[in-house]
Amino acid sequence: MRTLTRRCVCPGSFDPVTHGHLDVVERAATLFDEVVVAVLHNPAKNGTFEVPRRIELIHASLPEELRDRVRVEAFAGRLLVDVCRDVGATAIVKGLRGGTDFAYEMPMARMNKHLTGVETVFLPGDPTLEHVSSSLVKEVHRYGGDITGMVPDVVLAALEELEPRGSAAG
Ligand code: PNS
Repeated sequence: MRTLTRRCVCPGSFDPVTHGHLDVVERAATLFDEVVVAVLHNPAKNGTFEVPRRIELIHASLPEELRDRVRVEAFAGRLLVDVCRDVGATAIVKGLRGGTDFAYEMPMARMNKHLTGVETVFLPGDPTLEHVSSSLVKEVHRYGGDITGMVPDVVLAALEELEPRGSAAG
């Protein structure tokens, strides 16, 4: 009998990956056989980390036991629905931290469903990580705050190398 591989996409900028992202990827891996972590970026825009570095940091942060079921790939200037079709994913999995995420994500979920029928599965964000986002952790670190526990140690080290803690503080 042929068994169907259930595959989902966890999309994002991952600039850089946080424990909030990793929580969603790990929970997606309990619901799907395979997870594609899709690093989507606009080639016209520079992020903080180069895309290959973002991928390295995600790889380095994934739990060992998930590495054969979770793959990480970059997609430049693509619609998420096209990425889903290319990798054979039937669903998009995203975390929702609160009302602001809900308002931002819902039109995208509906648009993606309209375009190709792909479903979006929302996972309630871990309340202990509700305030954690890539942009906020970068800002807090840059101005001298402590982001220990919000990002994996490898990410903290990479951030420290790029923009040392407190480098923007007056
Ligand atoms: O980490 P982010 O920045 O919140 O991720 C947003 C992302 C990259 C998932 C979203 O902007 C996206 O899906 N971009 C791909 C382009 C696309 O499909 N746009 C139409 C969305 S309905």
